[in-house]
Amino acid sequence: MSEIITERSGSILRVQLNRPARKNAMTSSMYVTLADLLNDAAKDASIRAVLWHGAGDSFCAGNDIEDFLKNPPGPGVGGGTTMLTHCDFVYAGESAKFQMPFINLGLVPEFGSSCFVPARIGHLLAAELILLGLPFDAQRAAALGLVTRVLPDQKLLATATETAQKLAEKPAGALQACKRLMKRSSRAQIEQAVKVENEEFASLLRSADAREAFTAFLEKRPPDFTKPKESAKSK
Ligand code: COA
Repeated sequence: MSEIITERSGSILRVQLNRPARKNAMTSSMYVTLADLLNDAAKDASIRAVLWHGAGDSFCAGNDIEDFLKNPPGPGVGGGTTMLTHCDFVYAGESAKFQMPFINLGLVPEFGSSCFVPARIGHLLAAELILLGLPFDAQRAAALGLVTRVLPDQKLLATATETAQKLAEKPAGALQACKRLMKRSSRAQIEQAVKVENEEFASLLRSADAREAFTAFLEKRPPDFTKPKESAKSK
């Protein structure tokens, strides 16, 4: 079964992340497929909206940690909560949990989120998410402005489809121009942030702390970042 399933419904492209047993965690090949799909959709005038969701009970658990170790990611990846921050509408089921777990993995945020999460919600609230890496629920995500609306889980897809349908019926030229204008002031900043994030990310990925975090995840134990670096490195 394909890890990403697409379906056309009129002028809406539905994209489903399909690794429910892994909470739809993203592998490097899924990132490539997704980027191709979104780039193709952007060039296809007959596609007016992309509706993106996850199979099973989750949207996405971020980067697949096992795959991450085998295929260290290229520039511009962004799993779970990060990907949502690039969407125009985000509907969360009331049971949804969010997290920006990079700090717990010895890493930094990706795909511009180190820049636009603080820009969007303010430094102090962003610090709670980025520096503590604590999970938060759908109501908190909505209060922070990271979610458009919280809905009963069973109404999620129907509501998102309704919004995609409404968007698909809008005049495409004006809709695209609105999006360009809304993103104009932040675009250059985000591109710059992605570049510096990639540098930090690439160097941290080779660190003893990141290795400890990934190993701990795979061994299903809490990480221990208190070991002296030399001894951790020599392992
Ligand atoms: N990479 C690889 N495997 C993952 C994964 C990830 N990011 N997220 C979940 N899985 C796997 C789990 O290891 C588990 O595998 P198992 O069935 O072989 O034990 C399975 O998916 C189900 O996950 P589980 O942790 O049992 O579900 P949960 O509902 O208790 O928790 C999460 C869900 C998403 C909160 C939790 O899995 C998690 O914290 N994942 C890691 C998130 C993360 O750090 N992502 C990386 C961002 S860079």
